Amino acid sequence: MVQFFHCSAWCGSLILSVLERTTSMGHVSHEENVPIMLVQHPELALMDLAFAAYLRLDFLDFSLAQPNSSGVCDLDFLLVSGGASTVPRLCGENTNQHVYVDFNGATPITISIDTNTNFAFDRRWNIRIQQIECDSPCRAPNGCLQYYKGVSDTVTSFNYGTTVNTRAPLIGTRQMANLNYGVCVRMALGYCSIQWSQSDTLSFTVSGDTGSLDTTVIGRKIKFIFTIDIIISELNFSYRAIHFLGTDLAAVTGTDCTKDFVIIPNPSINGTAENVDRFCGNGLVTKTSSLKPFVLYVVTDGDEIGEIQNRGFILDYTQIACAV
Ligand SMILES: *[C@@H]1O[C@H](CO)[C@@H](O)[C@H](O)[C@H]1NC(C)=O
Ligand SMILES: *[C@@H]1O[C@H](CO)[C@@H](O)[C@H](O)[C@H]1NC(C)=O
Ligand SMILES: *[C@@H]1O[C@H](CO)[C@@H](O)[C@H](O)[C@H]1NC(C)=O
Repeated sequence: MVQFFHCSAWCGSLILSVLERTTSMGHVSHEENVPIMLVQHPELALMDLAFAAYLRLDFLDFSLAQPNSSGVCDLDFLLVSGGASTVPRLCGENTNQHVYVDFNGATPITISIDTNTNFAFDRRWNIRIQQIECDSPCRAPNGCLQYYKGVSDTVTSFNYGTTVNTRAPLIGTRQMANLNYGVCVRMALGYCSIQWSQSDTLSFTVSGDTGSLDTTVIGRKIKFIFTIDIIISELNFSYRAIHFLGTDLAAVTGTDCTKDFVIIPNPSINGTAENVDRFCGNGLVTKTSSLKPFVLYVVTDGDEIGEIQNRGFILDYTQIACAV
């Protein structure tokens, strides 16, 4: 069974539909595996694509099965198809997340929550589907999967969580495979650059074997490393002390980030150009980018095997006022 919803008004903030299933309250208004199809108003499909509408999906509640240990959403997933840009398959815990989907001409956008009912899990979802007025400042630039409008806010990766993936607690990760998306931030008037930083010391575990790291290593800064080499040669020995300037212990950058990483374009640290833009590992040094528009890119490859107990990230951003 397919339910059709037509957008009869193509401008104006319009709540088109709500997908909701709240098992704990015994309330079911949308069953799994029943797609809903959203079609643009026929007049709109004939208009300039610049005015084409798009949808914003707000996950008021979203709890589906975790991905498998490859990071693939194989049992449960939200599937959005037919839009102009790709929405990744999403699963796990995504309450309070949102995504934007552009219409692709007259092609309907189909939204479904597919579940594997053989896997016992207390699934819940409550998704608000909204079309935002065409000339609204809320309108996201085309292609942005997520869009933030504040001078400062917090961006969380999909299925971020402080607990391990319950389906594969020892080898699994909470990060999903095959992500390739941009998080756009609306430039506030009078603001010229954007600073990105970890929300807390453990909130950037994006690649590698996070499970093997001591929590005192993840995301922590050290000021100096003292290395003392003792060279003993017969009766002769000497001491050498090497002082390294502090850096984040587990942060990885540049060409060492090949599988899962975020991209912050042309960043600088305390005014010094960093000259790399890929960041991964288990720590992110606070950095600032002046490149416009403000976009944080998120990339994961097709297989998360070996990426153990990564949580993903929570990053705070703050826009920085232009120098006067
Ligand atoms: C995860 O699921 C995908 C899709 O079904 C499959 O190709 C992959 O082999 C699975 N990974 C594991 C470790 O089972
Ligand atoms: C001490 O050992 C180093 C090499 O290990 C050598 O170059 C140096 O001449 C030695 N010094 C003395 C006083 O024997
Ligand atoms: C940047 O400057 C601040 C304030 O002086 C300092 O606390 C911080 O450690 C610096 N960051 C780096 C990565 O050098």
